[in-house]
Amino acid sequence: MENINQQAVADLHEANRQRWNNHAAEWKRLRDEDGIWRRCHKEPHLAFEGRAFETIANFFETLQGKRVCVVGSGDNYAAFALAGLKANVTSVDISEKQLADAAERASELGLKISFVRSDAADLQSLADNSFDLVCSTNGFFIWLADLTRVFSEIVRVLKPGGHYVFYDVHPFQRPWKDQVMPIEMKKPYWERESCPGETHWTIADILNSLTASGLDIRRVIESPAVNSRFWEGPSYGPGQDESLQDWKCNPRAGLPVWLTVAAVKL
Ligand SMILES: C[S@@+](CC[C@H](N)C(=O)[O-])C[C@H]1O[C@@H](n2cnc3c(N)ncnc32)[C@H](O)[C@@H]1O
Repeated sequence: MENINQQAVADLHEANRQRWNNHAAEWKRLRDEDGIWRRCHKEPHLAFEGRAFETIANFFETLQGKRVCVVGSGDNYAAFALAGLKANVTSVDISEKQLADAAERASELGLKISFVRSDAADLQSLADNSFDLVCSTNGFFIWLADLTRVFSEIVRVLKPGGHYVFYDVHPFQRPWKDQVMPIEMKKPYWERESCPGETHWTIADILNSLTASGLDIRRVIESPAVNSRFWEGPSYGPGQDESLQDWKCNPRAGLPVWLTVAAVKL
């Protein structure tokens, strides 16, 4: 991977911290609309897309007592789900406002989670070799200016033999104008820049960064949306227009929507 200016990374991440602080109230409102956060700790599959939950379950007979870190935790659905499975969960996000909302919800649900404000590119408050599992979910990578640095931090905090499992928006969904029919290209697949602070990584960027960081890839899954809500906005509520699932009406539905990867620290 090419060298990335680390001051530029720190500056972009700091700008994203402020952006997410400003966006936290709206994110909270959206998540209150669908209310899924109230259910994830009892119905953990609700917190995961792209067969990520089944993938985690394949690696762990039980998560009870396992040390788990959710990085870029945002709405914390994954953290709530894993805490509901009795894992010992640390939730890391760069935005103190996102964390404050999550902590309030965790307390309402009676979940004990350790919340840590940190840039994923510099997890200095987390010890080496301390987690059995690290997860990241839906819409995290776009905020990162240096994937290899973040994956290297994930490797550092994982125990040898520990797993990193993520699902994120599939890079093949990034070059298009949003929800425009007929399908219209916004930029070439390889052009990483979209709007300021957001980076559109390719499949090669993600997989090469994982291996360069010392992770051994065990499983790669490319999945469609399970219902039409993916095409209708950031809500977790049920979709309305099922025709959006038909690639003949919505050609983007003929491309994968989620990229899920399971990797191991050797
Ligand atoms: C779209 S959310 C993804 C998480 C979750 N799936 C969700 O939908 O809420 C993005 C989250 O990543 C966090 N984030 C962005 N950049 C980060 C960084 N460098 N380190 C840690 N967290 C970061 C943001 O604060 C935000 O809460």
